[in-house]
Amino acid sequence: MKKVIVLGPAILVVFFLAAFIKGERDTDKPMFIQPSEQRMGDPIKGYNYLLTGDFLKSGIPYDFFIFAHGKGKNMLNREGKNANVDEGFNVVTNADSIDIVIPTCLQCHSQEFDGKLYVGLGNSFADFTNAGQTGKKLALLNMWKTTAPQKYRAVHALLQSISVVNPEIETDVAGVNPADRLAGLLVAHRNPETLEWNDTALLTGPANIVPTDVPAWWLLKKKNAMFYNGMGRGDFGKYLMMSNLLTVKDTSEASEVDSHFSDVLAYIKSLQPPPYPLPVNKDLAATGKAVFTSNCSGCHGTYGSDGVYPNLLIPGSIIKTDSMLYSSTLQATSFIDWFNKSWFTQTANPARIAPSAGYVAPPLDGVWITAPYLHNGSVPTIEAVLNSRLRPKYWSRDLDKPTYNYELVGWTYTVHDAPNGTKVYNTTLPGYGNCGHYFGDKLSGDERKAVIEYLKTL
Ligand code: HEC
Ligand code: HEC
Repeated sequence: MKKVIVLGPAILVVFFLAAFIKGERDTDKPMFIQPSEQRMGDPIKGYNYLLTGDFLKSGIPYDFFIFAHGKGKNMLNREGKNANVDEGFNVVTNADSIDIVIPTCLQCHSQEFDGKLYVGLGNSFADFTNAGQTGKKLALLNMWKTTAPQKYRAVHALLQSISVVNPEIETDVAGVNPADRLAGLLVAHRNPETLEWNDTALLTGPANIVPTDVPAWWLLKKKNAMFYNGMGRGDFGKYLMMSNLLTVKDTSEASEVDSHFSDVLAYIKSLQPPPYPLPVNKDLAATGKAVFTSNCSGCHGTYGSDGVYPNLLIPGSIIKTDSMLYSSTLQATSFIDWFNKSWFTQTANPARIAPSAGYVAPPLDGVWITAPYLHNGSVPTIEAVLNSRLRPKYWSRDLDKPTYNYELVGWTYTVHDAPNGTKVYNTTLPGYGNCGHYFGDKLSGDERKAVIEYLKTL
């Protein structure tokens, strides 16, 4: 398929079937991602577990945390001690009956936007440029080994992994996420069958700290595979619980944590994208829908109650966006082997990693709120996604008091002439490139405006 031209839902189905028949071998054509069976769960239980659950069993003793950190904002209206810590932490009771504070999914998977906290919106403000320093500060707690053995026991597993991992996950600029590298490192230090920790790495994981944006959770319900490169096949719950590798003791702990993740998956699948809050020009959006249908739907699908999402993996040769994320995973064969012979794949509800040389064409529901764009967050607005000539080489946004441009859809940004520290996105760095996805370039200015108006309605 050289050109993606789709006339409407009927043809989309033909396209979908054609891709299906081609299977997953052909590497220079869009490939259909086969669905895999998923566990069913209870979304309300899943939400409660996310906000109060002990998916890590090691953390910082609560009293010390409040002393060192102060109290946080209670944006999720939580109760008890959870009301005193920010949304990215849970207070849980450990095996010694000590209250500990653990970092949670919401560190990366929630974000404030115009004064409101959105659970499931990828956090594009987290700053990992100084992660090593944070690790060093935490390492001071090792002094408890002799002075306060019970506290030491509570935090030991966390310190052990953070001291190894944190210096290795520093990103070059703020606002991008090193989670892929984090997963690679945690895996490298654990026995695949017993999940037990080793201070020295047992294998070489992905070689680079590849920066990524964090995808919105409400998109997962449409996807047949997890992650930008579509490598997450089989049971999604197994991937959702991978954070547990930060501190897990053994497989019996992993199984107990895993048993909650059918509920977490059900919660994630229940999320809806927030609607665009300003008025939309309906006529312009209708024109935009027609442009979208003929230029974009072949990959991104159709929307509304009868919408069809084609679940396609687009090879690097077609998408041409920065290749480091997919190539770095493909090269990390020992990481892939680890996973595919590990507890994650050898127990009930198995997962399976199947990396490819390309990226999933994501659903665009709620895309208006998910700037910056592309898998590495290299493009600040949708306008610039659709017109590559406008993409800034060096750009920054106000990370403390960000403002949103509802017209161009994305962050208000400043263009710089040269790289300038960790607050300026530098698209010339390896992995940070803003190339590719040139499908909007051929549109006229009016067509592009119309498509943007339509995208606001998704
Ligand atoms: C350190 C930050 C971080 C933490 C903590 C984290 N995630 Fe993620 N998560 C990411 C990033 C980054 C990605 C995208 C990685 C990729 O696709 O290469 C991701 C991907 C996902 C996806 C896949 C979305 C998709 O559409 O493919 C889901 C679902 C998810 N995470 C759930 C969770 C859950 C549940 C937890 C907690 C148990 C969690 N994550 C903890 C950063 C994080
Ligand atoms: C050949 C398939 C294909 C076509 C055609 C296509 N896209 Fe994409 N699109 C992708 C893929 C794959 C990505 C993810 C690329 C990445 O992150 O590296 C993407 C990403 C995007 C994103 C960024 C999403 C995000 O959250 O970062 C937007 C917006 C988008 N496309 C809009 C469009 C529009 C509008 C059109 C039509 C003018 C279009 N696309 C045509 C495959 C396609």
